Amino acid sequence: MTKDKVLIFDTTLRDGEQSPGATMSHAEKLEIAELLDDMGVDIIEAGFPIASMGDFNAVSEIAKLAKRSTICGLARANYKDIDRCWEAVKHASSPRIHTFIGTSPLHRAIPNLDVDEMAQRIHDTVTHARNLCDNVQWSPMDATRTEWDYLCRVVEIAIKAGATTINIPDTVGYTAPEESADLIRKLIATVPGADEVIFATHCHNDLGMATANSLAAVIGGARQIECTINGLGERAGNTALEEVVMALKIRGDIMPFETGIDTRKIMNISRRVATVSGFAVQFNKAIVGKNAFAHESGIHQDGMLKNAETFEIMRPEDVGLSGTSLPLGKHSGRAALRAKLSELGFDLADNQLNDVFVRFKDLADRKKEVFDDDLMALVYQNDSGDDRIKLTSLRVVCGTDGPQQANMVLNIDGADVKTSATGDGPVDATFNAVKALFPHGARLQLYQVQAVTEGTDAQATVIVRMEEAGRIATGQSADTDTVVASAKAYINAINRLLVRREKSAPGHDTKGVSYKDS
Ligand code: KIV
Ligand code: ZN
Repeated sequence: MTKDKVLIFDTTLRDGEQSPGATMSHAEKLEIAELLDDMGVDIIEAGFPIASMGDFNAVSEIAKLAKRSTICGLARANYKDIDRCWEAVKHASSPRIHTFIGTSPLHRAIPNLDVDEMAQRIHDTVTHARNLCDNVQWSPMDATRTEWDYLCRVVEIAIKAGATTINIPDTVGYTAPEESADLIRKLIATVPGADEVIFATHCHNDLGMATANSLAAVIGGARQIECTINGLGERAGNTALEEVVMALKIRGDIMPFETGIDTRKIMNISRRVATVSGFAVQFNKAIVGKNAFAHESGIHQDGMLKNAETFEIMRPEDVGLSGTSLPLGKHSGRAALRAKLSELGFDLADNQLNDVFVRFKDLADRKKEVFDDDLMALVYQNDSGDDRIKLTSLRVVCGTDGPQQANMVLNIDGADVKTSATGDGPVDATFNAVKALFPHGARLQLYQVQAVTEGTDAQATVIVRMEEAGRIATGQSADTDTVVASAKAYINAINRLLVRREKSAPGHDTKGVSYKDS
């Protein structure tokens, strides 16, 4: 039996990155796009080109670099947005313009258009996009709360104006599986010309049903799923790519569809997106959570030893987890490190390997066994050679009779400066010391600590998110000393804020616009 193909449209870099705090740097966006392209994603929504110079540059560069994927940019329903979008995606060997407008009563009220004016706007903007590009996607935002008759009317207009993909967004995560399947099925059966276009589903996870709703839509006739890595996205997030792809792979018996995704690349990109977005993956998250393949209970372990299928419906290797793997230690050399990193999916250039090797040796001196997760934390260290602020040394005095005191030396713009600061706990004292040496008005939004492996000598990964004048930056670091990791993550976040501050200085960037503006 030949299976129907379901296209995978990844919007990690647009809908995912739009999530407050998930902002990625230009280099990080390019890196994620390369991983998406390489894993077989059919369409990459690379950004919202009109939103800022940064978004525009990222989309155009991704368009130039993509080898296999179609590159798509988002545009609101106006000519300026669409022209800007085309300017960015036109470099791709396969470009797509995605234009949208909110069609539900609540969304129609925003641009203050009546139903006829909106219908005309849809006709004009889709026609304009189609005159620029022969691959045009159109979305009626909040489709699942749009009146049925009006939805049919506008979908028909968009098809007649030349849209090649019609995306049906469940913008607020309101629908349920049966309804999701029915909506697509009925649209295909009712709207003239529907069988000449591809219907897509775009679900949000507010009620925890995004994956189920997306799969139901496919059963109803959709042949494109819009999703993000780790389900990254505003509020409760978007449909998770890894969940829909693995569900289609494992349950091909009841859902006879295939995707072009190389599922063995899932774990690597999941970790990378978690790191660059600063949104850690919950331990019990389906497919990519730390515990997704862990079988802790005695009964499970016994069953697993006899036959892995007793409790496992998919193999860890299928999502890119290596099976049991031996840790490295302080006697392991560069060749062993290179082999292990390549097994984990990292092909580092010689200078990068040297860098990681130095950090590995330092860690191995402090920690008997260096596990895969430790190595990944080392590779993902965020420090860049251009950082204005660097940690030179830190000594913290702790005790039950507080206050705790941090004695710190920072290197700021090439010169060492030192101070002592107290605080309510060692981390507070450390952050106060940084602030005393480098005064700033940024507000701490998130401070998160997670042990990389088990044991009291485990490294701690710390994520810090800071906000200053609407700009948000996430810093991250790992160290066997939680306070040192905290200091480095905090400094990393400030360094990134400084880059962002510079980029948004007058003349450097345009002011960001919201995709909710009309
Ligand atoms: O959720 C949504 O409606 C969107 C649209 C822009 C497609 O992200
Ligand atoms: Zn969305």
